[in-house]
Amino acid sequence: MEILGIDIGGTGIKGAPVNPNTGRLKKERLRLLTPHPATPAKVAKIVQKMAQHFAWQGAIGIGFPGVVQNGKVLTAANLDKAWIGKHAESLFREATGCAVTVINDADAAGLAEMRFGAGRGHSGKVLLLTLGTGIGSALFVNGKLVSNTEFGHVQIRGKAAERRASDQVRVRKKLSWKKWAMRVQEYLDHMSLLLSPDLIILGGGAVKDYKKFSKYLKLPAEIKPAESGNLAGIVGAALAVQAASRNRRPPS
Ligand code: BGC
Repeated sequence: MEILGIDIGGTGIKGAPVNPNTGRLKKERLRLLTPHPATPAKVAKIVQKMAQHFAWQGAIGIGFPGVVQNGKVLTAANLDKAWIGKHAESLFREATGCAVTVINDADAAGLAEMRFGAGRGHSGKVLLLTLGTGIGSALFVNGKLVSNTEFGHVQIRGKAAERRASDQVRVRKKLSWKKWAMRVQEYLDHMSLLLSPDLIILGGGAVKDYKKFSKYLKLPAEIKPAESGNLAGIVGAALAVQAASRNRRPPS
């Protein structure tokens, strides 16, 4: 069974049909621009366009850049505030006519990396951080996801970490790779103190330039780039559909 995976980001909305058993995309990914303002109605229109592009009638998994609990959005730091309190699953179901599962975008990327990428086979504590428009986080303890951790919002020098060390800040402030890496290092030191992770996986938009900044990072934990790069969000959103249907199954 294929699942349409969609990753809603602050700048782009990306999607493709995914084979959840292999983590492979079955068709070329489509990227559409995130509307501004990114209100629920406008984003739902883009998701509808995405489903129409792939003539989709099956299940859809969506990664959303905020806290999502039981299909409802609780925070939306980088999208329109009208999202807060919206039941995203119902909204997207109405827009597409398909069954929809919505999960935090970094949690989705984490699911993909743990199953097919840099976290495969890793037990202990694995922390995935996505460095993009914001900073997303996914924490796995012995392979189990602790959802909605929102570590991009821990305070560093009196500011949310993502306001200092996201890839967007690097671009906006025209920071050199070294200068930015020092901010990332400070943040990772802080996270290491809090969690003592065994492995840190770095993903998000910045991962395509991993070599340019990873040489400046030094940590007690092992540190790796996300293997599926920017596609982890799409693949993981599809995996979230599988996970949700497993959780709904009555105990035998
Ligand atoms: C949001 C997170 C999200 C991250 C990456 C943050 O601003 O609060 O929920 O995972 O951005 O998109």
